[in-house]
Amino acid sequence: MSLEKILAWIPPGSPDEALARQVNFDQLPAHVAIIMDGNGRWAAQRHLPRVEGHRAGIDSVRDVVETSARLGIGVLTLYAFSVENWKRPKAEVAMLMMLLKRYIRLELGTLLKNNIRFRVIGRTDDLSPDVQHELEIGIRKTEHNTGMLFNIALNYGGRAEIVDAARRAIASGMAPADLDEAKFGEFLYTSGQPDPDLLIRTSGEMRVSNFLLWQIAYAEIWVADTLWPDFRRRDLLGAVLDYQKRDRRYGGIKPSPVALGAK
Ligand code: FPP
Repeated sequence: MSLEKILAWIPPGSPDEALARQVNFDQLPAHVAIIMDGNGRWAAQRHLPRVEGHRAGIDSVRDVVETSARLGIGVLTLYAFSVENWKRPKAEVAMLMMLLKRYIRLELGTLLKNNIRFRVIGRTDDLSPDVQHELEIGIRKTEHNTGMLFNIALNYGGRAEIVDAARRAIASGMAPADLDEAKFGEFLYTSGQPDPDLLIRTSGEMRVSNFLLWQIAYAEIWVADTLWPDFRRRDLLGAVLDYQKRDRRYGGIKPSPVALGAK
């Protein structure tokens, strides 16, 4: 949760160390959300089946999760499987689910060691029982952790989430006049979590792809040309450093010396 924590994990004298030393730990994004893209292209460049790109992408997930936790980022959300991804070939979907199950089983120790709380956002009831079972184990075993909250978005769609939230709001019996933006947020999958300050997308695509549509209203967007399986700690540090240079105005204006009454 600090420079010391991240430096303890970085080879001394490496370019990553130089990047880590530039981070302002008082201005970290509270929530980083990532659209992991480019696994298929990474595999195609190597004349490998697409699923090998997903397999290689797991190493990036591991690196980014631990980097984020050590930096002290409050919430990390990774977009692993969208509601539209069921349209992919059956074998690819099966491989993605298998990789997810294996990731949770193999990485539980790292999550516990780093005090990370694991959660899943999306229409999880539609996932197969074995996947749901593995997710529940991960959620239950990390539920008392107090460090970074790590959301995996699975069978997730931003529009589906808004529809689900509207259904919940109606079912709660709340009077329509009592509903406002803050209350609506309590019906979203991310209820109680800060909105993403930083949205990262890999592989150079300039799209938000139905990801956290409500929550990214004021997020700073950072697009990397790097394909997801090549994305590592240095790329995340680069994104955070770029974010820290941004001028966030939330629709207002930056107070100028004149507006502040300076002569
Ligand atoms: C996008 O690449 C990536 C995905 C749809 C899946 C991402 C999943 C993983 C990295 C593995 C499991 C994740 C976790 C959190 C354990 P693409 O296939 O759309 O790539 P392309 O655009 O190059 O075809």
